[in-house]
Amino acid sequence: MAVLVTGGAGFLGHHLVKLLLDEGKEVIVFDNLWTGSAKNVRYFEKHPSFTFKHCDIRERLPDVGHIEQIYHLACPASPDRFEESPVEILETCFQGTKNIFDLGVKRGARVLIASTSETYGDPLTSPQSEQYRGNVNCFGPRSCYDEGKRIAESLAYAYHHKHGLQVRIARIFNAYGPQMQLHDGRAVPNFIASAMEGQSIVVYGDGNATRCFQYASDCVEGLHRLMNSDHDSPVNIGSDVEMPIGLIADMVARVVAEKMGQANCVDVTFLPQREDDPTQRQPDIGLAKRVLGWAPKVELEEGLDRTVDWFLAEKGMASGSRRAVGGAITPVRL
Ligand SMILES: NC(=O)c1ccc[n+]([C@@H]2O[C@H](COP(=O)([O-])OP(=O)(O)OC[C@H]3O[C@@H](n4cnc5c(N)ncnc54)[C@H](O)[C@@H]3O)[C@@H](O)[C@H]2O)c1
Repeated sequence: MAVLVTGGAGFLGHHLVKLLLDEGKEVIVFDNLWTGSAKNVRYFEKHPSFTFKHCDIRERLPDVGHIEQIYHLACPASPDRFEESPVEILETCFQGTKNIFDLGVKRGARVLIASTSETYGDPLTSPQSEQYRGNVNCFGPRSCYDEGKRIAESLAYAYHHKHGLQVRIARIFNAYGPQMQLHDGRAVPNFIASAMEGQSIVVYGDGNATRCFQYASDCVEGLHRLMNSDHDSPVNIGSDVEMPIGLIADMVARVVAEKMGQANCVDVTFLPQREDDPTQRQPDIGLAKRVLGWAPKVELEEGLDRTVDWFLAEKGMASGSRRAVGGAITPVRL
């Protein structure tokens, strides 16, 4: 079976391509390397069932032969990019997704879209189930992404009803793991980068905003199960273990210090909260458990351990065996 993965040179794309190749699929990747990495592509380039097409999904798509499934992941996901390239992100979410749906219709392929917990905005209810309609600001710094993903879901609905396209919609909650870009602006790699460089970890807000972080392998397993299920309305894919972001920063500081054999952790600095940054984020994953038989398996401590090992190896820094780190973590407020 041939499967197309858009955004396959990115963080989640890498883990998904690996899963698909491991189960014997032929995999084609469309990616313009905007936020992904050539290294992620090189990792697979000798695999006989892997093909990479460098292209921007907003433009005319390359020809592909028969494909049965499309995982549509191509879109920047870091808040830093929302500030830099809001128009390009909106184009990717609308025109890019439309191009992919047209391809799905032409080839009779099922399309899964990587939607997001950001469709719930700054939620007024917790945990967030798929029935929750969200609290999204359509005129703000995150709206290119939040509304972009909402329009992608609307397009999925429209293509399903107008063209009979088979669609699957994954509302992904924060994921982390190896193959993220160290400086791509998302919380976990940001924290790891600061700790590795001996800098204070910056947390926006007072540290009490909550997030639920899922490890990459759990996330792509959820996407894979959803694609191969009969469920054609949105499904939350995320961890439901909710933690204050300040505590996650402390955990990262400690893991990095232990692995680098440092006596003390870097401290955590709090800056004003960023506009429209959600204060609480926790998925209700009852539906994923029921219809996909899926729940995340990797606990945060273990996932951070593996992720820090990977970043240290990437930087050519050996990871020492973990030992207790002295010194209290002292949050600094500016
Ligand atoms: N990682 C998360 O926590 C998370 C959470 C919710 C939703 N998602 C969604 O999952 C998908 C993958 O996220 P990720 O974390 O791997 O991000 P990523 O930035 O690592 O990967 C995105 C990939 O898409 C490519 N891309 C972007 N725009 C493109 C375009 N116009 N044409 C061709 N390629 C393009 C990038 O070059 C990159 O390789 C995204 O759609 C994102 O919105 C991710």
